[in-house]
Amino acid sequence: MDQNHKQEEQNDLYAGFSAAYKSFATEAIHIGQEPEQWKSMAVVPPISLSTTFKQHGPGNHAGFEYSRSGNPTRNCLEKAVAALDGAKYCIAVASGLAATVTITHMLKTGDGIVCMDDVYGGTNRYFQRIACESGLEVSFADCTKPELLKAALKANTKLVWIETPSNPTMKVVDIKACSQVAHEYNKDIVVVVDNTFMSAYFQRPLALGADVCMYSATKYMNGHSDVVMGLASMNRDDLYERLKFLQNALGCVPSPFDCFLCNRGLKTLHLRMERHFKNGMAAAKFLEADPRVERVIFPGLPSHPQHEVVKRQCTGCPGMITFYIKGKLEHANAFLSNLKLFAIAESLGGYESLAEHPAIMTHASVPEQERIDLGISDTLIRLSVGLEDEEDIIEDLRQALAAAHPKTK
Ligand SMILES: Cc1ncc(COP(=O)(O)O)c(C=O)c1O
Repeated sequence: MDQNHKQEEQNDLYAGFSAAYKSFATEAIHIGQEPEQWKSMAVVPPISLSTTFKQHGPGNHAGFEYSRSGNPTRNCLEKAVAALDGAKYCIAVASGLAATVTITHMLKTGDGIVCMDDVYGGTNRYFQRIACESGLEVSFADCTKPELLKAALKANTKLVWIETPSNPTMKVVDIKACSQVAHEYNKDIVVVVDNTFMSAYFQRPLALGADVCMYSATKYMNGHSDVVMGLASMNRDDLYERLKFLQNALGCVPSPFDCFLCNRGLKTLHLRMERHFKNGMAAAKFLEADPRVERVIFPGLPSHPQHEVVKRQCTGCPGMITFYIKGKLEHANAFLSNLKLFAIAESLGGYESLAEHPAIMTHASVPEQERIDLGISDTLIRLSVGLEDEEDIIEDLRQALAAAHPKTK
């Protein structure tokens, strides 16, 4: 393919989307990484394993006391992520769920949470089985319709939890509209957006009115399927102070080694996300045109119900595709078992292609009736399209569909 053709294809992919964030790659590579912060002038931030730091005199320290309350390698990561989210602050914690737990600890008994109805199974489980039992009131609303969110808000609502696109049915929420609805009702409601699927490269919830942007950094932000981590960014000083306090007081901190890896992963986030989008779009188009597929849900396709919102609030789309294969559970199983390049595995957002069956795997903890209501059926399959060669990805999907439906060409 010649250069002009390549450029045209690239332009088509991003047509109608919001413009890319200025200097994203430069900031990912340089913010928080300044060699001058180390005596050695190390260009790559060192992994600071020390759990404790020498003080000049009692209480007179050089910025670090104990590694749970602050760590130099973690600092580098937090500064970089804050910049990429267009935020003043970021805290890194031990997992995405640890971020959810830490944020929810800002609430007290009797406070209410309104959560998007379709969220990661572990978020659903934490809210329904742990937060509820410790005296918080949790209700669920389909936030793709801001009027339903409005109807769910109550005098005790302190937190609105949005995941967009949602996992696994890829519902897209208009962050600006929902933040406005929540803040008009009560300006003190904290609107949190789980930005795991989009990553900082494709979506900036804080610029759209959210108060906290959180991630399972285990996914695209780290991008190499070798770190479990959570992140939360914010602009409000009061929120940062409280969350920074909770990061230390609850103690769900990541290891310096994991911080080093995630910080390294961020350096190629822009390149990875562009390739995920290109491969994801190719796979989504292929599946949508295939007679053995019932329906494809990919926010980058015009057939996605909230495609216009996606283009308005995002700068592109990740490689996450959900589709319904024709037939029954046995066809979904046959498709998954016959994949060669895609691995059947939980998680997403790494360089490698993964496929999973949400009803049996990631979302088994969601009560059955809720799964049915949300459309998490036996024929629903979720793909995390990786960075391999496009033709090989398509060929794998083609041969697995043929194996699942041998009589349909
Ligand atoms: C959208 C989303 N949010 C949060 C989480 C939880 O993150 P972690 O597994 O890092 O605890 C996940 C994990 O799959 C997720 O997909």
